Amino acid sequence: MDARLQRRVQRYGWDRAAEAYEAGWKESLADAQTELLRVANAKPGEHVLDIACGTGLVSLPLAEAVGSIGRVVATDISDNMIERVRHAAKTQGFTQLEAVCSGAEALDQWPDATFDLVTCALGLMYVPDTITALNEAFRVLKPGGRAVIAVWGERNKCGWADIFPIVDARVKSEVCPLFFRLGTGSVLQDEMAAVGFLRLETSRLKSKLPYADDHAAIEAAFIGGPVALAYNRFDAPTRAAAHREYLASIGPFLTSEGYRIPGEFVVCRGHKAATD
Ligand SMILES: C[S@@+](CC[C@H](N)C(=O)[O-])C[C@H]1O[C@@H](n2cnc3c(N)ncnc32)[C@H](O)[C@@H]1O
Repeated sequence: MDARLQRRVQRYGWDRAAEAYEAGWKESLADAQTELLRVANAKPGEHVLDIACGTGLVSLPLAEAVGSIGRVVATDISDNMIERVRHAAKTQGFTQLEAVCSGAEALDQWPDATFDLVTCALGLMYVPDTITALNEAFRVLKPGGRAVIAVWGERNKCGWADIFPIVDARVKSEVCPLFFRLGTGSVLQDEMAAVGFLRLETSRLKSKLPYADDHAAIEAAFIGGPVALAYNRFDAPTRAAAHREYLASIGPFLTSEGYRIPGEFVVCRGHKAATD
């Protein structure tokens, strides 16, 4: 897919998904976000950039960690996501958290060597040009700074993965081409190394996505996530057929307590050399 089109699909898709995002994904992504925050180890007074921040599930704990003497800039391509972060920062009294609409591949609002830490939780899979985005993350880091990036793992370890072919079969172009590429083998770490990150450490964690019933699983997959824009254009019979196919694909993960869908995440940390 053309990169500009992919960015538009993502931007307007996530604008639509914003309202349902936390209900569908907050619990399911918590393991990856907790690990990212642990590895990032943000300290009071630090300046942090959180890329593809969504509703702020990582930006808000980062703001707490850096405290009022620090600063967190949360960025996302979706205006609706940014509005949510602004609202949350205001209601939670985090004056150190600023939310700015920006694509990951063009961080030109920020000069070189601005931040101590750059984070990106489960956002880089949606970016068409990941090397440009990683170069930008590297550029805005101060010498000695670090970046921590979390992505979904390998396709065959993510039991919900059929959502993409099911939706793609009903639209003209793919919604998330190459979604599982970064989480396969050492691709994420290799790309971080390619733009200059050093002392790279990667961990892979297995998780379970809990959904109480069919309705909750469908809402998360179709309404609160990346296929929301395409799904919105489906008529009722198309929606019903897509639901049936998706439920059949996650059927093996239905337990007496509801769905427990396997998922895998990759978290990678790298450093920028202390001096150029
Ligand atoms: C799964 S959400 C993750 C949000 C948040 N980091 C979290 O951990 O909950 C993915 C986010 O990536 C954003 N996104 C997609 N493409 C992007 C791009 N090219 N640049 C910046 N953000 C992008 C979406 O708008 C969405 O908010």
